[in-house]
Amino acid sequence: MEVVISRSAESAQKLAATILADALRAKPNLVIGLATGRTVEGVYAELARMHRQEYLDFSLARTFNLDEYIGLGPDNCNSHRYYMNYHLFNNVNIDKRNTFFPDGLAVDQEAEGLRYDMAIKETGGIDVQLLGLGRDGHIGFNEPLSSLASRTRPKALTPETIEQNSSLFEHPEDMPRRAYTMGVGTILEARNILMLVTGQAKAEILAKAVEGPVTSMITASALQLHPRAVVVTDEEAASALKGRKYYDWVFQNEPKWAAYRNI
Ligand code: GLP
Repeated sequence: MEVVISRSAESAQKLAATILADALRAKPNLVIGLATGRTVEGVYAELARMHRQEYLDFSLARTFNLDEYIGLGPDNCNSHRYYMNYHLFNNVNIDKRNTFFPDGLAVDQEAEGLRYDMAIKETGGIDVQLLGLGRDGHIGFNEPLSSLASRTRPKALTPETIEQNSSLFEHPEDMPRRAYTMGVGTILEARNILMLVTGQAKAEILAKAVEGPVTSMITASALQLHPRAVVVTDEEAASALKGRKYYDWVFQNEPKWAAYRNI
């Protein structure tokens, strides 16, 4: 795992967007795993800007979102499909037929999870998976005690997650209590992982996820097992990290980061 500490939330979002854009330029039919949440909104805004001003081309890209609320259809303004259309897909030249989500309205929920994992496999797997970090340390909606080998499935949300995300609903009580999520095992199969974490509120949980023991209580800690995982943070989110000096040293000296140091 590598940790890159950027000076502000805005520069961290730009850095993450640039990593994704470079991967897309290198492989135009990139399979991208996408996340929702407040943290990544700036990444999508920057990708849309790159499309408008730098001709970043999404025409062959394929995307799989991490998760979707159970019971919400694509037209519901709180569904993850709606979020992605609003923040990214309507603003770039992606073919929406190449953008995939678990079906929040599927009748057979177990089968829907299996179908989604199979669909990811059939495209050849995810090249780059973008992640945020939940307050309880979850990735996707893999709440504490999720198996580190789990696959896409329906998952009951914790009261903490419901509290965190229900503020985005016009009527907070309308927030679904369950969601489909890629499993931790599904996420670990992505060839590259890019987790973006910003803000003071995430500092303690980020330090546990990155520097603490691997545990199903904090599913983001499973990223320590991934051979190509990069965590991009701002100063606030990095404030509880113990290994900071080394992370900065690597970012300042490793040639692969040279192009990203001025962002
Ligand atoms: C939700 C999503 C996660 C996301 C997390 C953080 O729970 N399922 O994928 O990382 O929220 O959200 P925010 O960026 O709003 O803090």
